[in-house]
Amino acid sequence: MALRIGDTAPNFQADTTEGHIDFHQWLGTGWGILFSHPADFTPVCTTELGAVAKLQGEFAKRNVKCVAVSVDPVAAHHGWVRDINETQGTTINFPIIADPAKTVAGLYDMIHPNEDATATVRSVFVIGPDKKVKLTITYPMSCGRNFLEILRVVDSLQLSAKYKVATPADWQDGQDCIVTLAVKDEEIPEMFPKGSRKVKSYLRFTPQPNK
Ligand code: BEZ
Repeated sequence: MALRIGDTAPNFQADTTEGHIDFHQWLGTGWGILFSHPADFTPVCTTELGAVAKLQGEFAKRNVKCVAVSVDPVAAHHGWVRDINETQGTTINFPIIADPAKTVAGLYDMIHPNEDATATVRSVFVIGPDKKVKLTITYPMSCGRNFLEILRVVDSLQLSAKYKVATPADWQDGQDCIVTLAVKDEEIPEMFPKGSRKVKSYLRFTPQPNK
């Protein structure tokens, strides 16, 4: 069955471009992003891995470790990394899992047979420090992912993990947040000392609490 938000992210051991890992140990106590690629030496994937490498500073700031997975072997990954570094003007600075037995692909339901019988689709899993799945996104093979959107969701997830807020449509870090329905009106002044704005009984905004 497909993994759902709130499920424990399955653990596995695997060879990667940075050595053998136990996934949960490798994640440690921080956040993680596991994202899959249909195959090595493919054009869209090449641009995606370059994009993630360029955003490593942003992920690190948020205590997020990124790891990619592709069903090809480690030797192929190393050759592909050289191409990515050359063509994308960057240096891959995170591991790529080799999953020739499709173990990770199976555990995370990354093969969607009606899209392709053997290759993985473009799955993304954001995993919290508690090893629970916080976000799943699935893109088709033809469309490269928007990793700035994934950073935006991480910002929202990390905020909601700490404060009783949610984030509105198209929210960006620094903008007003929504006070969750679990908070009573009378609790707002102490919980959100920066103030609040009530539009409807169920729609209350507050400045981003950690800014
Ligand atoms: C790509 O990354 O470009 C790609 C990979 C598999 C199928 C289609 C596109």
